[in-house]
Amino acid sequence: MSNVLVVGGTSGIGLEFARMRAGRGDEVVLTGRDTHRADTLAKEFGARGLGLDLARPMEIAAALADVGRVDHLVLAGVSRDDNKVTEYDIDAALQLVTLKLVGYTEVVHTLVSRLHDDSAIVLFGGQAKERPYPGGTTVATVNAGVGGLVNTLAVELAPIRVNAIHPGVVGDSPYWRDKPEKVLAALRTETPTGRLASMADVVDAVDFLLRNGSVNAVELSVDGGWLLG
Ligand SMILES: NC(=O)c1ccc[n+]([C@@H]2O[C@H](COP(=O)([O-])OP(=O)(O)OC[C@H]3O[C@@H](n4cnc5c(N)ncnc54)[C@H](OP(=O)(O)O)[C@@H]3O)[C@@H](O)[C@H]2O)c1
Repeated sequence: MSNVLVVGGTSGIGLEFARMRAGRGDEVVLTGRDTHRADTLAKEFGARGLGLDLARPMEIAAALADVGRVDHLVLAGVSRDDNKVTEYDIDAALQLVTLKLVGYTEVVHTLVSRLHDDSAIVLFGGQAKERPYPGGTTVATVNAGVGGLVNTLAVELAPIRVNAIHPGVVGDSPYWRDKPEKVLAALRTETPTGRLASMADVVDAVDFLLRNGSVNAVELSVDGGWLLG
């Protein structure tokens, strides 16, 4: 039995990961911005929910005060930022940059004394860093930043293992599943496997990164070979 914390676990891939681990008998805490919503969702499968805003890093330590030992930490939280450099929205950019780069780091900083030598951490980036799209300026930037963050955390926290996961388009995730079929079909055509990654594929990859004792400072793409399409 492991103690698992999923930050950004009230929706999408984080929620699926939390549900899978709770089903396996782990002690799971998941977070969203609203404590009541997070805890109500978590209780459906025997987990506990907390409220925590990654974009307000000064408040993170207090929000995590009653979290105990952490064996596996997953940082999955995201807010969407449609931002072009030609029409740059500084507030929106600051929100996402703070959330992923400072917020993720502050969660780890807060929990350092509750991690141990066999703990493992997975941070979520995404393939927008390699395959940018109009409006994805901040998303591409922070996802690339996650790669740098993984490297420095793996060095500073050694022997704790720290890895990143970079999903491509996750076709059945809440963000993508209701997009027009034309959009999804075009993305499938660009993907060598002929299918989009699923939440189950990503959950399985996160689980691998957390469990395998020699995989460290790796940036794992889960995208069906999309960059070659
Ligand atoms: N879906 C994809 O196709 C895809 C592709 C590439 C990368 N990714 C990455 O994979 C991860 C999961 O994506 P997803 O699509 O499954 O996510 P999602 O369904 O949009 O869920 C986002 C999660 O982040 C939480 N969140 C939002 N704003 C927050 C804030 N300010 N502070 C703390 N938590 C906050 C949400 O909780 P509340 O709303 O309850 O606050 C929710 O639990 C993200 O890091 C994303 O960048 C996803």
